Amino acid sequence: MLLFTILTLSLHFRSSLCDPDANNVYLAEKVLNIERLMLIPGTIDFQVATCAYTNLGPPPGESAYAGDQTAAQWVRTVFHDFVTANVTAGTGGLDASVGFESNRTENAGTVFGDINFIDQTIKGFNLFSSVFISTSDFIALGITEAVLSCDPNSPMIQLRAGRIDATAPGPSGVPGPTDGITSQLAAFARAGFTKAEMITAVACGHTIGGVHNGDFSQIVGTQATIGTDDIDTFDDTPFVFDNIGVKNYLAGTLKAGGPLVTTTDALARSDLGIFTSDSNATVTAMATSQTSFENACFPIFEKMINTVPGTNPLLSDPIGPRTFITMDSRLDLTSTGVLTYSGFFGTYGKTAAPSTVTYEYGTVGGGNTGTKHSDSGVLQSNIINSNAGVPGGATKFPFFGNVTYYNFSDPIYTPTTNSLIVEGGIYSEPINLDLFVVPSLSYQSGTSYLVRAAILTSLLSSSVIHLNATLYYPYGVTSYAYNVGYAQFTQPLSYFTKLGSYTIFSGTIITPAPEFSASSKGGGGSHIDVSLGTTLRSVKANAGATPGVNVFIPCSTSDFPNCP
Ligand code: HEM
Ligand SMILES: *[C@@H]1O[C@H](CO)[C@@H](O)[C@H](O)[C@H]1NC(C)=O
Ligand SMILES: *[C@@H]1O[C@H](CO)[C@@H](O)[C@H](O)[C@H]1NC(C)=O
Ligand SMILES: *[C@@H]1O[C@H](CO)[C@@H](O)[C@H](O)[C@H]1NC(C)=O
Ligand SMILES: *[C@@H]1O[C@H](CO)[C@@H](O)[C@H](O)[C@H]1NC(C)=O
Ligand SMILES: *[C@@H]1O[C@H](CO)[C@@H](O)[C@H](O)[C@H]1NC(C)=O
Ligand SMILES: *[C@@H]1O[C@H](CO)[C@@H](O)[C@H](O)[C@H]1NC(C)=O
Repeated sequence: MLLFTILTLSLHFRSSLCDPDANNVYLAEKVLNIERLMLIPGTIDFQVATCAYTNLGPPPGESAYAGDQTAAQWVRTVFHDFVTANVTAGTGGLDASVGFESNRTENAGTVFGDINFIDQTIKGFNLFSSVFISTSDFIALGITEAVLSCDPNSPMIQLRAGRIDATAPGPSGVPGPTDGITSQLAAFARAGFTKAEMITAVACGHTIGGVHNGDFSQIVGTQATIGTDDIDTFDDTPFVFDNIGVKNYLAGTLKAGGPLVTTTDALARSDLGIFTSDSNATVTAMATSQTSFENACFPIFEKMINTVPGTNPLLSDPIGPRTFITMDSRLDLTSTGVLTYSGFFGTYGKTAAPSTVTYEYGTVGGGNTGTKHSDSGVLQSNIINSNAGVPGGATKFPFFGNVTYYNFSDPIYTPTTNSLIVEGGIYSEPINLDLFVVPSLSYQSGTSYLVRAAILTSLLSSSVIHLNATLYYPYGVTSYAYNVGYAQFTQPLSYFTKLGSYTIFSGTIITPAPEFSASSKGGGGSHIDVSLGTTLRSVKANAGATPGVNVFIPCSTSDFPNCP
């Protein structure tokens, strides 16, 4: 156990030393922001808060449409993205290229009556998109959330962060139901999967959802099985991630493996062809128990989401989420020039949360400024919990147990403060006292920002007459795809005033109009950091990204840029 801890710590340490990405984001920040999203009730979890159809209603702008199962779409999206990888060439994989490929015949699947399932999936992720979480990391996060929803008592699939998005379509090659076993095996082999791994992947995917008449009428005709839906499900428990499908396939009972085993179109019986390609050996082992099914499926899903292009930097260690993290934290200056650090911690669990969180501020050289306690914890109201209509009801959710938040706010008197250490080191984050966006002096009106940034006066030479502020803002990558990317726009800030040990610089940034707006793709939010030269850069201040706490104070358009 001790060895494991040391290993884990050293790996985290190594990650934090890795180079940042093109938007100056470190891997540790990507991990933290995914963890935060998991612990904000009503965000990413909410879209699959039922494994079933869209019981919680379709997303804004879409009409209810029978048979659409968000959790199943998220799982299927992973398959359609990763499987066109060529691992020998080091190309493709889980890189969100699928977003540019949704109108290919091999990616057929219409949801809500009018939108492709991949487009709808990415549009749903964009609501919470920021410079910290790539679309491909969202696709990977999606399958972990979907499986947690459909199999709430299982541990989470191991999720790693750090996928870099493709910006254009990749090669085609998603195997289809009528392609035949040789071609299907070749496609998986190109992506690095053995026959047994392919069989496992298909059996694991085809335990939720089913085949839609609207997409594959030659396979399912109109034999709808549930209500008026146009779907013929793979098994009788399409909303549960379980081994019922493979059990019934082997026994020939109930749905006997579903439409891709039993369809009258003999050429489209792809699951039958795949399962029998090793004389049913793989699915027989998976059918033994729910645990044997999960033990087969989770590593295969992990392999699917960890198949990334050869050019992708190393992915992170598996994401916990850690039991204590900061949900928000920021430096600020009071009107008398006192430096403060404040924010709130988040924790989660299925047992009672502690009444307060214990933490300390680390100082250069390994010391600390003494033990502190947060404010009392506040249990977060969980809208998911209260949804009595959800199958499984309140016993099933929230995914990570109850979430509790704890405020903290402290003056920072010691100039050697360099970190926040929470609960003895379960979580820690660096604190950069050199320079930061000053929340109490920074304002926003629409997409315009009045940025006030503080830099330690001791770091300034007389020749420095400006700092740079950089906005990281979302844009639609192409006209046709829903994928959003993040662009940079840098503006100089000029001398404003002195406050305490700091010199304040000020300037405005107006978000440039991108060629393709991100809001029409579902959303995306901005961040701003400040820099001096190439070595001094602040943490990124939230400039209206959802979820998260906007650092910029709202200011009316008429006051801007002369806000208070
Ligand atoms: C050769 C391999 C595969 C073939 C031929 C195949 C074929 C299909 C077909 C024809 C559908 C129906 C889609 C629709 O009606 O819109 C489907 C659905 C689905 N597939 Fe596969 N599939 C394969 C592998 C996989 C794998 C590896 C996964 C695992 C991630 C997976 C996950 C799913 C899911 C979750 C659905 C249900 C989607 C929904 O209900 O909306 N499939 N598959
Ligand atoms: C995968 O890439 C390798 C190396 O570039 C190439 O030789 C091979 O033909 C590719 N495989 C497929 C199935 O396209
Ligand atoms: C389909 O996607 C391609 C890119 O792969 C794009 O050029 C084309 O405009 C798209 N067509 C439609 C009808 O959306
Ligand atoms: C595999 O199982 C299916 C479904 O029970 C059965 O029809 C088939 O004969 C089996 N094939 C082999 C080779 O065991
Ligand atoms: C979790 O939250 C619910 C209210 O949403 C509460 O009734 C329950 O006691 C909490 N459980 C624990 C272990 O704190
Ligand atoms: C936590 O801090 C926020 C922001 O300062 C404040 O709005 C909120 O009321 C605080 N909550 C508690 C429980 O103190
Ligand atoms: C600000 O950025 C510009 C390039 O955008 C660079 O030339 C200049 O040196 C930077 N200034 C500072 C103070 O870092």
